[in-house]
Amino acid sequence: MGLFHCPLGALGYGDDGCIQCGLCSAVTRAEKIAATQKMRAWIRENRQSSNPDLLIQKIAVCGKGGSGKSTLTALLSGALEHIGYRTLILDTDSSNGGLYKKLGMDAPPLPLNQTGEGDCPPAFLDREQIYFEEVEEPFVVTNRMRSLVCAGKIEDPLMGCACTIGEYARILIQKLSTQAREIVIADQEAGVESFGRGIEASCDTILIMVEPSIESVELAGKIQYMAQGIGIQRIRAILNKIEDEEQEEFILDRLTEQGVRCLGKIEDSRQIRSRNLFSRELLPEEGFALAGSIATCMLDEAEMTYDRP
Ligand SMILES: Nc1ncnc2c1ncn2[C@@H]1O[C@H](COP(=O)(O)OP(=O)(O)O)[C@@H](O)[C@H]1O
Ligand code: SF4
Ligand SMILES: [Mg+2]
Repeated sequence: MGLFHCPLGALGYGDDGCIQCGLCSAVTRAEKIAATQKMRAWIRENRQSSNPDLLIQKIAVCGKGGSGKSTLTALLSGALEHIGYRTLILDTDSSNGGLYKKLGMDAPPLPLNQTGEGDCPPAFLDREQIYFEEVEEPFVVTNRMRSLVCAGKIEDPLMGCACTIGEYARILIQKLSTQAREIVIADQEAGVESFGRGIEASCDTILIMVEPSIESVELAGKIQYMAQGIGIQRIRAILNKIEDEEQEEFILDRLTEQGVRCLGKIEDSRQIRSRNLFSRELLPEEGFALAGSIATCMLDEAEMTYDRP
């Protein structure tokens, strides 16, 4: 299959887990469209969430590079901590490594692709279900109610492509099991690459970061199209780095034209920029001040309870 990675994790056509959609062998555009339709229909019918209309268990934060995915991940997990939720954050970005600083951690977790045993992932990935406390150190770092796991980083030009990293991320997010007041947040790689790897297929909520650039606004429509195609119902845009009302109005109009609903906004903030520059934590109370309304609107929409501060 060359570099093609089956979104369902099958090793090849006809192997375990293969639904024979034909995506890996499709050559013409018509064959590819027919195969993706078959794949999407299968994913929609076999979604994991017990009640995708109500529960928020797994959130994927998507959007253009630099739009603020990691910043929102830190702010949202902080806001959720402030109102009584534990979060397990999965960093699937194979290049940027600064998320742990935003979460106030002294060092990042050991990436899942660096067990030191070749291509072997950590043993806990073999479990059928993985509860938060079953993710073993040093592959997880915890600061109060926020834990961080990193799928993998490319740190050497000879380390090869990011396929293994995407595969570990897909397996982990699929197997992670949440209990009451626990939420998984996947801080996704930029663009729509991760959709091709099937990482979002296990998520019930997609948050799309939209910054004031036309590329970012247009990408939001594309991400929503891809997320809807795999049966995800809760897809919301978050406006970020908004400088004035004119920008906000323009972006909201463009999103409405594309049928993308907006959950909230984060202003362009000197505080966020300097926290980033000086590698300082975005504290839970700051997260609540900046993204508390996003967190509570999201939980209210899903009718989930939380502690009101
Ligand atoms: N609301 C905001 N105001 C000011 N700067 C922001 C804001 N959100 C993000 N940034 C800055 O933009 C840059 C990219 O943000 P980041 O969260 O790393 O994006 P991504 O994860 O999407 O690549 C960082 O320097 C970050 O500090
Ligand atoms: S892409 Fe489709 S046909 Fe190919 S291995 Fe995956 S499920 Fe099977
Ligand atoms: Mg990032």
